[in-house]
Amino acid sequence: MWWSVVGQRRRRDRPALGRRRPADRSEATVTERKRMTLPGLFAKVAEGTPITWLTCYDYPTAHMQDGAGIDMILVGDSLGMTMLGYDSTLPVTMDDMIRHTAAVRRGAPNAWLIGDMPYMSYQPSVETAIRNAGRFMAETGCDSVKLEGGAEMADRVAGIARAGIPVIGHLGLTPQSVSALGGFRLQGKGAAQAKKIIDDAKALEAAGAFCILLELVPDRVCKLITERAEHCIIMSLGSGPDAHGQLLIYHDAFGLYPKFTPRMAHVFADAGAVIREGLDGYVRAVTERTFPSPENWFGMKDEEYDELLRRLG
Ligand code: KIV
Repeated sequence: MWWSVVGQRRRRDRPALGRRRPADRSEATVTERKRMTLPGLFAKVAEGTPITWLTCYDYPTAHMQDGAGIDMILVGDSLGMTMLGYDSTLPVTMDDMIRHTAAVRRGAPNAWLIGDMPYMSYQPSVETAIRNAGRFMAETGCDSVKLEGGAEMADRVAGIARAGIPVIGHLGLTPQSVSALGGFRLQGKGAAQAKKIIDDAKALEAAGAFCILLELVPDRVCKLITERAEHCIIMSLGSGPDAHGQLLIYHDAFGLYPKFTPRMAHVFADAGAVIREGLDGYVRAVTERTFPSPENWFGMKDEEYDELLRRLG
């Protein structure tokens, strides 16, 4: 009964049912923005404008990123760590990736969207790789896929590209091979390993990758690869400023990952701190009964309430 009583107390100052807050400005930006295409990405490279790239895993964040004009969005298998709380990316499945990628597509209709192929979705064979890349395209509406590995994965890259699916390679620190690499650490510090990464980049480009991500390799190795790329976009994650653009993990850049923030990330806004402060405020307001206030609930007409009491006897 308390809900009808408080509802009557505040009937006059209550907003009309169904009335919504005005749409924020990013809503207009999302719909007005032109959809990013492959020629659009290559045009940015040709004009020397760095490409912006972030990871994203959910609909509301995708909406904000698209509104901000982010060029490329990666639904990374890092979601295993950032969203699902695993210690590595290895437990992530194709079904996890499909669900999150489809949600991001709904929020970001205009950015160039990449589905990250999870562990064992492409390693077993070329056919497995093509089938799973096809699932991404058909079931999520993404624009391309990414997979980890160098020359040893060139046949997977070639098969996917031949199937008409734009494909991105990933070299340097490749988290699916973290055990073999000896942990999350800089790759290509020594000349021999750096030469292998440069050779791998050539092999992926020759196999048809339109883009290669270099994660955590020395800046000079990244520069050499970028200078040598002929028809391939080179992107940097913690690999210096000389690539065609930059990628960051969203949770690292906005203070949202609770365990650590890697050195290669810059925190552009501490959303985690804002949310924690809001949570403290919510707990306080409910505990102290300052929430909800009249605009947060709905009442009932006196006649209906009287009739209800009559029916209840
Ligand atoms: O899964 C991911 O987010 C990635 C990045 C680490 C590049 O692959």
